[in-house]
Amino acid sequence: MKINEIYNLAIKMGIEVDFRGREGIEKLLKRKKEKYEKLSEKEKEEFDKEALENPYLDSRIYHIAQDTEVKKVLAGIDIEPAELLLAKEIGGIDLIIAHHPLGKGLAHLADVMELQCDVLNMYGVPINVAEGLMKERISEVARGVNVLNQQKTVQAAKILGINLINVHTPADNLAAKFLKDLIEKENPERIEDLMKILKEISEYKEATKFGFGPEISTGSPERRCGKIAITEITGGTEGSPKLYEKMAIASIGTILSMHQSEEYRKEAEAANINVIICGHCSSDSLGMNLFLDELQKREIEIIPCSGLIRISRLDRD
Ligand SMILES: [Fe+2]
Repeated sequence: MKINEIYNLAIKMGIEVDFRGREGIEKLLKRKKEKYEKLSEKEKEEFDKEALENPYLDSRIYHIAQDTEVKKVLAGIDIEPAELLLAKEIGGIDLIIAHHPLGKGLAHLADVMELQCDVLNMYGVPINVAEGLMKERISEVARGVNVLNQQKTVQAAKILGINLINVHTPADNLAAKFLKDLIEKENPERIEDLMKILKEISEYKEATKFGFGPEISTGSPERRCGKIAITEITGGTEGSPKLYEKMAIASIGTILSMHQSEEYRKEAEAANINVIICGHCSSDSLGMNLFLDELQKREIEIIPCSGLIRISRLDRD
């Protein structure tokens, strides 16, 4: 496979499992096109045209030094110049695939957060409430990424002549769908039952050995799950802490989260929402693995690095 084909496959896989459905994505892209058409010539010049085709602006091709047939990939959660040097040291790496966004992808992280409004709405939070509370948080994230050195790794890839892409929200979508399907199938009654199911997932099992397996952040093993919502697995980064109260009103009992900061935990506790922290790198790994398996199917060798717990579901079948 060529780099473009790998990247397009990631975007396609992300769309296929997106909680908004294909129709939802098409509507979103159509709206972006309509907005673009209304821009002045100067504004059009500055507009990121990729937004017209790609619903995941946090996932990008950063550098193609050599457009080769990809046989060997170095894949990791956070790619920094150290990982690029690692690739050089290993040798024969045709492409590096990062999970977390870099460069332009990082600059546009806030763009994918609207997805959270639709996910919350799917679980019963009125769309006006979700959009109202997320608006503030989305602009906070958009401002927050400005302080980062966004181009550092991309620049290093250019200097070293390394092919570099990232796959963020498409992979997180795959993890979210995997968890949703599993939980709907198993339908756990109590938190302890839910924990048992989560701990059977290979990435979480591995993470447990390293000391960062799934944990109950709020709630207790005996409590009933109620409606379980997968609201904190995909959609860029943390939503708004003001949402928990609204989730409780929408009959959500338990949420699965990748990671959660203290302020959010307190708000969830006050709203009597049970929160399970599945684990950050392990959840990121789950989504990446579901994508990387498709590359493995096409005879591409995957070398994991930077926190990626590589589990192949093909090896087991
Ligand atoms: Fe992440």
